[in-house]
Amino acid sequence: MNILVTGGAGYIGSHTCLSLMEEGHDICVVDNLSNSKETPLKRIQEITGRRLQFYRIDLTQKASLVQVFEDRRFDAVIHFAGLKAVGESVLVPLAYYSNNIVGSLVLFELMDAYGVKNIVFSSSATVYGEPEKVPIKESFPVCPANPYGRTKLHIEHILRDLFAADRKWNIAILRYFNPVGAHPSGMIGEDPNDIPNNLMPFISQVAVGKQQELFVYGNDYPTHDGTGVRDYIHVMDLAHGHAYALNKLGEAPGLVTYNLGTGKGFSVLEMVSAFEKVSGKPVPYKIVSRREGDIATCYADPSLAEKELDWKAKLGINEMCEDTWRWQKKNPDGYI
Ligand code: NAD
Ligand code: WQD
Repeated sequence: MNILVTGGAGYIGSHTCLSLMEEGHDICVVDNLSNSKETPLKRIQEITGRRLQFYRIDLTQKASLVQVFEDRRFDAVIHFAGLKAVGESVLVPLAYYSNNIVGSLVLFELMDAYGVKNIVFSSSATVYGEPEKVPIKESFPVCPANPYGRTKLHIEHILRDLFAADRKWNIAILRYFNPVGAHPSGMIGEDPNDIPNNLMPFISQVAVGKQQELFVYGNDYPTHDGTGVRDYIHVMDLAHGHAYALNKLGEAPGLVTYNLGTGKGFSVLEMVSAFEKVSGKPVPYKIVSRREGDIATCYADPSLAEKELDWKAKLGINEMCEDTWRWQKKNPDGYI
């Protein structure tokens, strides 16, 4: 297939491009590099021995994006591009609404105009907000607790309205849980700017000596050890999930929504101890107060994706830690 991947230079996008290229698909990436570098795209081509096409374009710039649709014919689009830092979205909500929603609108308008009506959209477990119970099913109420999450939900609504108006669209909304890990080559991985917001990159930066200690945000949650529980999913499992979603679009399913998670929850302290075991490095930590907006426990019921996509996460917490550690050791300063 000819696939347009927006945000393909980013963390999940780069792993997904690699996996799709290994399966023989032709990939065209559009990314403005606002939160990424071109290096992973070069490395993907080294690993696969195949070429991809790259346009450095901001999705909100319609005149530039038109050129991409003029140049190539696409069978499907995978839409990763967006800003994703929860804390930042509280500080600069307009930047998030503008980038994520306007960028998506421009993309959908051009897809419509050029007759490209198959899309996989990166949504997030964050749309559920604080769940009434776990595991979380796709049918649960949605109530995101921050502007970032609300941009994701708005985009889901836009896609639903688009489908209601034109049944020729095929749309797979994928709600990711907590992506971690890296490609087993150690050549591509997660490369956060500045101090990481998320747990796994922070742990690995402590292990490699870039950060002194981990701050564990609260040990008074109603969980087995008091620390927050999440559904960590290996980024390669997630990447493969996109190929399964593309296959599903081939069956013309209309609009479908799937959780992509493992269905298992691990606490912060369990992640720390798994990482220490795999890396052989100590990860000193200090318990501090809760982070605003955090919830106690969040994990997926991934059974719908298993039933309808035939996809299931295969990699466990050890592979997640091993692959993160390999990437971190090989690239202590990220992509330079
Ligand atoms: P990322 O920041 O690494 O990748 C996003 C990419 O989009 C970056 O390369 C960035 O430069 C690009 N981008 C942003 N705005 C753009 C614009 N206007 N035009 C063109 N390119 C633009 O993030 P990621 O972790 O790879 O996440 C990918 C997608 O998955 C995002 O939509 C994110 O919201 C979603 N998601 C991520 C997580 C997570 O924890 N990483 C969880 C759930 C959902
Ligand atoms: C995991 C656990 C923290 C950092 C976020 C977004 C969500 C989605 C995935 C995009 C929590 C604890 C963390 C640290 C800690 N992204 N923690 N010390 O908050 O579950 O989800 O990323 O869609 O929208 O909100 O992930 O990795 O930040 O936190 O103790 O330095 O680790 O409190 O329990 P989160 P996370």
